[in-house]
Amino acid sequence: MPPTSPAPDPAQNAADGPFPKAELHLHIEGTLEPELAFALAERNGVTLPYATEDELRRAYSFSDLQSFLNLYYALMAVLRTEDDFADLTHAYLARAQAQGVRHAEIFFDPQAHTARGVPVGTVIEGLTRALDTAEERYGITTRLIMCFLRDESAESALATFEAARPYLDRITAVGLDSAEVGHPPSKFAEVYALAREAGLKCVAHAGEEGPPSYVWEALDVLGVDRVDHGVRCLEDEKLVARLVADQVPLTVCPLSNVRLRVIGELADHPLPAMLEAGLLVTVNSDDPAYFGGYADDNFTAVRDALNLDEETLRTLARNSFRASFLDEPTREAYLKEVEAHGRG
Ligand code: ADE
Ligand code: ZN
Repeated sequence: MPPTSPAPDPAQNAADGPFPKAELHLHIEGTLEPELAFALAERNGVTLPYATEDELRRAYSFSDLQSFLNLYYALMAVLRTEDDFADLTHAYLARAQAQGVRHAEIFFDPQAHTARGVPVGTVIEGLTRALDTAEERYGITTRLIMCFLRDESAESALATFEAARPYLDRITAVGLDSAEVGHPPSKFAEVYALAREAGLKCVAHAGEEGPPSYVWEALDVLGVDRVDHGVRCLEDEKLVARLVADQVPLTVCPLSNVRLRVIGELADHPLPAMLEAGLLVTVNSDDPAYFGGYADDNFTAVRDALNLDEETLRTLARNSFRASFLDEPTREAYLKEVEAHGRG
């Protein structure tokens, strides 16, 4: 099944289109647009608790992270077969291409599928079938990041890691997501140690709704290479100093932060303060089907709300490749594209 709707026009950041950029915080399940959700529901004989796409869209009003997660997990009922995961991924890649994304490091939530009886192999085979075509078809290099649901047990994370062992050659990193408060990173020390032993990179959501202490734990207990969100680090001066000194990347998601009420309005977003502090900040889309925008929509929204100039956008684009898990020659090639962009 091809993507069910045309990719939206990206806003233009410069004469030659959107900045080339890496997307480093993107939940593939969070790219499930209403059109595709209904198409897959029909294909799989699943009944959604919404009569129309418009009715579903009207449910996209969230009071916090949990209120979003409730809908996010419910809609996953339509994802059942390898084809479903491949179609979802193709639809994302087509949209990402139109937004200037040249490299994407993509999260998936195996436990949200295995809990419904979908084997982890079905998920990974479906995702990688599409990702294997990404460079040729969309001009996008990709990596896959397997996330553990932090509101499930540490034992469940360990069992998930063992079930995924046969597929680890397709996976670059492990991550940690879902309901943050009450589920500190230290709960997952054992599975992260196994992941590191297996040669995987490590990332974790921390400091989205949770306190700065969760960011400390992600760094010192899990040994993460990157922190997802991390906006609440600003409440702790020593933490900011540590993140700056080690140039630990933060994958910030501005439109998500507004939709999940992590911050009030985009105009109040601490992104400029984070850049000013010397943090290695990147801008990402998180769950774009739910939060109103893909990668370049986030760039354009912060540009407009925070009056960012072209050179600040260039810094954000540069940071996205610096913070990626790319090999050095490919990273350097992308960085050259960023420097050349809009300069004739
Ligand atoms: N899963 C999908 N999106 C998420 C987010 N923003 N925070 C935590 N878990 C998530
Ligand atoms: Zn996220």
